[in-house]
Amino acid sequence: MATYDLVVIGTGPGGYVCAVRASQLGMKVAVVEKNATLGGTCLNVGCMPSKALLHASEMFEEAGHSFAKMGVSVSSPKLDLPAMMNFKQQGIDGNVKGVEFLMKKNKIDVLKGTGKILGSGKVEVSADGKSQVVETKNIVIATGSDIARLKGIEIDEKRIVSSTGALSLDKVPGKLLIVGAGVIGLELGSVWHRLGAEVVVVEFLDRILPGMDGEIAKQFQRILEKQGFAFKLAAKVTAVDTSGKSLKATIEPAAGGAAETLEADVVLVCIGRVPYTDALGLKEAGVALDPRGRVQIDPHFATSLKGIYAIGDVVAGPMLAHKAEDEGVAVAEIIAGQAGHVNYDVIPGVVYTTPEVSSVGKTEEELKQAGTAYTVGKFPFTANGRSKVNQTTDGFVKILADAKTDRVLGVHIIGREAGEMIHEACVLMEFGGSAEDLARTCHAHPTRSEAIKEAALAVGKRAIHM
Ligand code: FAD
Ligand code: NAI
Repeated sequence: MATYDLVVIGTGPGGYVCAVRASQLGMKVAVVEKNATLGGTCLNVGCMPSKALLHASEMFEEAGHSFAKMGVSVSSPKLDLPAMMNFKQQGIDGNVKGVEFLMKKNKIDVLKGTGKILGSGKVEVSADGKSQVVETKNIVIATGSDIARLKGIEIDEKRIVSSTGALSLDKVPGKLLIVGAGVIGLELGSVWHRLGAEVVVVEFLDRILPGMDGEIAKQFQRILEKQGFAFKLAAKVTAVDTSGKSLKATIEPAAGGAAETLEADVVLVCIGRVPYTDALGLKEAGVALDPRGRVQIDPHFATSLKGIYAIGDVVAGPMLAHKAEDEGVAVAEIIAGQAGHVNYDVIPGVVYTTPEVSSVGKTEEELKQAGTAYTVGKFPFTANGRSKVNQTTDGFVKILADAKTDRVLGVHIIGREAGEMIHEACVLMEFGGSAEDLARTCHAHPTRSEAIKEAALAVGKRAIHM
């Protein structure tokens, strides 16, 4: 007799949410976690600490640059970095405790140690030189991802850092060189830039934020440059000389050509993440990986071995916490005999900078490539009343709709609170709604969300305030 109905390996947003849903469905569940704390990358070294520092550094920036024009006179703000790091840690601790509480509340056993799959129905859990084998009807692999490394450039998490080190620097670097203009580079670059660092971002491609709508990325780059970011696109860092007091990075054009050297106090390597399957014993157990090292799954999250499933960053798809969570819920429901499902066409993405960038559905490039006839409606925040009175007018809303049916296919926003605003578009798209539906939905005034309604009106060439 199996001891458990389900053992989940990993307690990131994929794993712990899966465990909670499975428990709600009446299963006897255990989670296995090798880290000292629950919550995975997201809670410990990802989403949550980065958002705490983004918030705190934004307040610092606002106090220094925006208060005076609103008639709020304060003396020049002083940075207390240890206190800011403490603020970040309190946020982490609070959320980790929240997950511990959820495990208790749902009567989920927490097995501390490294999980190894011995085959269908058997997981070995090892910690401090001791190990135990637990038996279970089902296993969910939710072991997440790890940082991708650059060949020949060793991350010491002090001067050459990954996102983990960049979340805990003990002083503001004079010069921060960032390798990779993706989400981490722009978010953590924003944190340290606001706190006083000079930021240069080196990106292999000829654009920032690959995967995001091209027009949005272009305008966002301009906004960041106005803030003081410097970009070197179509370039790569090939070496970092650590012998001197300051680091010397060798930068070459991506297409080849003469190299240049840039000095920096800290180099942040953020060129993507890779699935994490170390120590899981997948090869010996016979669980197949895809060519990119991700656990291979079918549309129902089942791996090549019966009763073993996988979700989150360790499988294909966007490496996002909410994607992992939704997969966690879906796989628990499937194991319980229900019809768990994730709609991969409606997974929002948010870059939590100032302004924020948010996106759901297809980009203009994707529609062009697919040969889909589409219409575009755009509305700038310069024409949105609330944004005008707050003097936060950077950015715009862009809606892409099917030219024949008017069904909304993609929504892309740059602007303050864009990460909160995107969800009305998600709900609309889940229901297969049209731009007309959005345009005829009453939006409270004055809100920034009115820009979404106006962009939807603009799809039909009838925006009112433009
Ligand atoms: P993880 O959160 O990586 O959790 C995996 C867990 O499994 C870990 O706790 C690990 O210790 C454990 N584990 C691994 N192997 C074993 C084993 N053999 N035995 C036991 N335990 C094991 N996403 C967003 O959606 N929004 C954001 O704002 C955001 N910000 C981010 C900022 C940063 C700096 C980073 C690095 C990532 C960010 N992400 C964000 C991505 C997000 O963190 C991941 O998509 C998410 O954590 C994936 O969840 P997961 O459950 O698949 O894996
Ligand atoms: P990313 O995939 O977003 O960006 C990596 C960037 O590095 C790309 O622009 C890529 O072209 C570039 N690059 C790759 N190799 C390079 C090289 N040798 N030299 C120069 N540039 C190079 O990855 P990132 O920023 O590391 O983030 C990892 C993951 O974490 C992402 O998948 C993201 O989804 C997730 N994340 C999500 C956040 C959010 O939702 N707000 C925040 C932070 C991370």
